[in-house]
Amino acid sequence: MKLIFLGPPGAGKGTLAKIVSEEYNIPQISTGDLFRSAVKEGTELGIKAKRIMEKGELVPDSLTVELVKERLARPDAATGYILDGFPRTIPQADSLAEFERLDSVINFTLDDGIVIQRLSGRRICRSCGAIYHIINLPASREGICDRCQGELYTRDDDQIESIKNRLEVYKKQTEPLIKYYREKGKLKNIDASTDPEKMMAEIKAIIDR
Ligand code: AP5
Repeated sequence: MKLIFLGPPGAGKGTLAKIVSEEYNIPQISTGDLFRSAVKEGTELGIKAKRIMEKGELVPDSLTVELVKERLARPDAATGYILDGFPRTIPQADSLAEFERLDSVINFTLDDGIVIQRLSGRRICRSCGAIYHIINLPASREGICDRCQGELYTRDDDQIESIKNRLEVYKKQTEPLIKYYREKGKLKNIDASTDPEKMMAEIKAIIDR
């Protein structure tokens, strides 16, 4: 099953991709996570991506497509995957279509007000990547991951100015992909304002159809 999770920042793509990945045993391939690892490791790519990401802008298409191409060539992605946060522009989608055939594009729909509430309260585990929210999904002990006891942190781009810019960038550069995939007959909308269990039930129905 080859899936794309499309939607505004904070719509729950990463949260649901982790659940789908475990349930269907396919990897979650998040370009945001790949870039954050590169930043942490201080690679050439990471150095280029760091300032772009902090501002909430998009990393250039050429670098992003190359990264995804390399990742999809690994054996664990041969039979399926969830692309979380890629493609984000029409040129990225055109490039992907040259080397992959997708099953479905799941479009998470959510109002801007909820996006801001979700991202400003998000916390992530430094060790295992588990995603929390200070109100919607709090850890049992503040600042500590329930799963691995790792430290929880706030992403650099989850500051209000960066969140607003990410929303603008999403509307200008990524939203046109909704029409793009609708015209290809691949688009399935899900309501991202409900709880993760309900969203998972909708995604399961799409996958198992
Ligand atoms: P990326 O890491 O992809 O960030 P994003 O798309 O902005 O998405 P997020 O990770 O912020 O949100 P999400 O939808 O995964 O939400 P989550 O599940 O965490 O990209 C970061 C940056 O990398 C980009 O800005 C860009 O610079 C660069 N980049 C990445 N891909 C690129 C590309 N293809 N091209 C160019 N540049 C690229 O949930 C959010 C919060 O809400 C959490 O706290 C969670 O607990 C809570 N929550 C989730 N679901 C629910 C629910 N159903 N109910 C209540 N709370 C919920």
